[in-house]
Amino acid sequence: MEFKEVIRKRYSCKAYSDRQVEDDKLNAILEAGRLAPTAKNLQEQHVYVLQSEEALAKIDAATPCRYGAPTVLLVAFDSEDVFTYPGGKRDSGIEDAAIVATQLILAAADEGVDSCWLNNFDPDKLAEAFDLPENEEILMLLDLGYAAEGAAPLPNHFNRKPLEETVTWVR
Ligand SMILES: Cc1cc2nc3c(=O)[nH]c(=O)nc-3n(C[C@H](O)[C@H](O)[C@H](O)COP(=O)(O)O)c2cc1C
Repeated sequence: MEFKEVIRKRYSCKAYSDRQVEDDKLNAILEAGRLAPTAKNLQEQHVYVLQSEEALAKIDAATPCRYGAPTVLLVAFDSEDVFTYPGGKRDSGIEDAAIVATQLILAAADEGVDSCWLNNFDPDKLAEAFDLPENEEILMLLDLGYAAEGAAPLPNHFNRKPLEETVTWVR
């Protein structure tokens, strides 16, 4: 798909059919995450592909927002392997993982796979349920699947501020 079309087609899907995402599509999506830039090229992300009934039940116990998606990606990062910027006040962990996650959602759209970025979850419940190592911090969950019949973007999706409100040119 043309890049501009991918950007335009992506929306947060909030109702999925039972149809599972094919492995070749999932691999293409994961590959886009693998190629994401990270500070100092640390690549501290860890993506979990959750598909078993048991895993999805654990997701449902931690968030109301799976919406029936048959695959959920959990994007975490190694909080002990981040780049601390000069000055020592900030580090790269969250933004590196967010870039990975962004490439995942755009690649999903490119593959014709619907998705929804989730931050409404209990990270402690997830860390315990999936036995994550202490050093892994969860950034987000990504619902993946195919929209249920009749599902469509929420009206909110079409409500974007004009550029004049969010961009300042200085020249
Ligand atoms: C950082 C972030 C967190 C989000 N968390 C949730 C969430 O927990 N549950 C949910 O249903 N949607 C969530 N969304 C989806 C947003 O509500 C959605 O992106 C926004 O309303 C714009 O709609 P669109 O993605 O269809 O363009 C999240 C999106 C982002 C970027």
